[in-house]
Amino acid sequence: MKLRKKGLFVLSFMLVAVAALAQATDNRMKIFIDKLMEKMTLEEKIGQLNLPVSGEIVTGTAKSSDVAEKIRKGEVGGLFNLKGVDKIREVQKLAVENSRLGIPLLFGMDVVHGYETVFPIPLGLSCSWNMKTIEQSARIAAIESTADGINWTFSPMVDIARDPRWGRVAEGSGEDPFLGSEIAKAMVRGYQGVALKNKTEMMACVKHFALYGAAEAGRDYNTTDMSHLKMYNDYFPPYKAAIQAGAGSIMASFNEVDGIPATANKWLMTDVLRKQWGFNGFVVTDFTGISEMVEHGIGDLQNVSARALNAGIDLDMVSDGFVKTLKKSILEGKVTVETIDRACRRILEAKYKLGLFDDPYKYCDLNRPKYDIFSPEHRAFARQVAAESFVLLKNENNLLPLQMTGRIALIGPLANNRANMVGTWSVAAVHANVPTLMEGLQQAVAGKAQIMYAKGSNLVADTAYEKRATMFGRDLHRDGRSDRELLDEALKIAEQSDVIVAAMGESSEMSGESSCRTNLDLPDVQKTLLQALMSTGKPVVLVYFAGRPTTLNWEQANLPAILHVWFGGSESAYAIADVLFGKTNPSGKLTMTFPKNVGQIPIYYAHKNTGRPLPEGKWFEKFRSDYLDVDNEPLYPFGYGLSYTQFSYGSIELSRNTMTNQGSITASVVLTNAGKVDGSEVVQLYLHDKVGSVTRPVKELKGFQKIYLKAGQSQKVTFTITPDMLKFYNYDLQYVSEPGEFDLMIGANSRDLQKTSFTLQGK
Ligand code: BGC
Repeated sequence: MKLRKKGLFVLSFMLVAVAALAQATDNRMKIFIDKLMEKMTLEEKIGQLNLPVSGEIVTGTAKSSDVAEKIRKGEVGGLFNLKGVDKIREVQKLAVENSRLGIPLLFGMDVVHGYETVFPIPLGLSCSWNMKTIEQSARIAAIESTADGINWTFSPMVDIARDPRWGRVAEGSGEDPFLGSEIAKAMVRGYQGVALKNKTEMMACVKHFALYGAAEAGRDYNTTDMSHLKMYNDYFPPYKAAIQAGAGSIMASFNEVDGIPATANKWLMTDVLRKQWGFNGFVVTDFTGISEMVEHGIGDLQNVSARALNAGIDLDMVSDGFVKTLKKSILEGKVTVETIDRACRRILEAKYKLGLFDDPYKYCDLNRPKYDIFSPEHRAFARQVAAESFVLLKNENNLLPLQMTGRIALIGPLANNRANMVGTWSVAAVHANVPTLMEGLQQAVAGKAQIMYAKGSNLVADTAYEKRATMFGRDLHRDGRSDRELLDEALKIAEQSDVIVAAMGESSEMSGESSCRTNLDLPDVQKTLLQALMSTGKPVVLVYFAGRPTTLNWEQANLPAILHVWFGGSESAYAIADVLFGKTNPSGKLTMTFPKNVGQIPIYYAHKNTGRPLPEGKWFEKFRSDYLDVDNEPLYPFGYGLSYTQFSYGSIELSRNTMTNQGSITASVVLTNAGKVDGSEVVQLYLHDKVGSVTRPVKELKGFQKIYLKAGQSQKVTFTITPDMLKFYNYDLQYVSEPGEFDLMIGANSRDLQKTSFTLQGK
């Protein structure tokens, strides 16, 4: 007891000391920036609010480009998507040595899922449900990018997404606010480290604030419109969590919120972000976010720029709206100098926090890239992470893992391509370094089995569609032969094989920005190929590439084995081999619901009940909430994923079945690895508030644990239910819990759950 008291005393002393230190640092920063701003002209202050594209700067021309001239004049606050530490150093030198006040620049980049060592696309990464792994992937991304001069990443993308037609579901962590929040925090910790001052730590930028994932009809950049209840309960939590984790910056979204584009929405950018959540970093627009408001129809460039600044935007990405119009707006009384000062201060504070005023070349060590980028350790970790992101959707009669013997036919348009392995938004990837799936499999089976390859089909029948879906160097080298010829060649190889591995699905650019789809089936020629392969009677394993949930009904009904591999990054070819041949046991679980058809969208597990729910077990009843032509169930539920072993769950034990707002209860199950191989299981906890002052979802994820068990081993898995886990935003947007009965569910996914209940006591 004495020891405990002493411990508490030391802890509180340390907390006070840390707070005092933070206060002293804040004071020093304030004094430094006050002094600097006294010297700045209005033009220089506005210049800090400008983030132009760096596209014109190519090696050797930095000094003479247009942007360089602006940098010299102090009209630029930062640049983005410029690759190469030598280039960045040269440009930084320009700012520091050739502009009047020598203010260093921010260098941003979309380091979304790794740098040259590329990790799985974020949606895939989220399927690992492994926060340590996710944090470490962001840490490595930060080490590599900072080695190459980058000090600011446009990540994490934390937009909740429940419509897989929207291509950008690939860039986020899926449909769930709780899991999304945990991942958001892990990513921020990974990028920013503990201090941000360390030379391997970079500033995170949480995007896209807000509701970008709720675009109507799943069409990118489209309008969003939702109740405040839904915003606060379902869509806001990951942004808020990232801010609480200390994220230094936020990116405004393209869409409107409540009829006002987010970029000009003062309620969002000031009331919610700063007043309610206490955010004290800076806000950048998305690419041309300001000038696009002219198209939105809320004013000309001068007016929309003024509205953005007044709403709380600090940095203008690419629109040139601030540099071109703010001076005029001051004269006309549309903005004040104080508002410009406020924004300028926030940008300077970010630079101060990054340590750029102490050492503007902190991120420009020309020796670092050769040690810190694409290192063997980073690649080994990426291989492990990729395997952890894959989701085994079906495995009839344990077809997988495959034996390393005989002849393996590798067929499909994704089987022999490098550029598509890394997935969308991998700006820094070096495609030549990425092995194809064929190379990965060949290396794995060398000397033991034979890999025979045929492309089998193009990506889609329509050439123009394929072109749109393979932009940015993601060419799939369209084969000029006819569909029939390609198919015949594949069938010939298939006939000679013992097993067929079909590498099919989407190209990497079929998801991501501006890559939305209204038909989520496997594209025409690929489906025909797959059906033909099945009709050979050989066992077929589908290695399925996609950046989103798709409709796989036929595949689920007819194929013996399906492994969803998303886009696993630079080491994914090796990782796929690891899983196919059983070196790694798959453990990924879906973080978005997979629909049976596009008409079911939006479909997500945490839905409301309606007044006319369909009775369990039925798939149609007149005057119930259902469809005539398809049942209400998804193809694969949220949280679903198989393993090469089987896990069994004991029954739920509650420490007690009542709790108060001061107390807590524990819920435990015994988890057993009942199969023959070692493996990991994600044990999931869901709660349902049975009676609320407003309607509540049928279940909500509130906890999860990833447990590794050797074959035959058991472990008791315990969750502590705290009052906070029962809270939600009520009609008045107060964050409360309400006394009453709660269902508590534990299981392997959002569908296969055991249930018990407890009561929250109170008035
Ligand atoms: C995207 C952002 C990205 C920005 C800068 C925009 O088009 O919406 O997510 O960070 O470009 O590349």
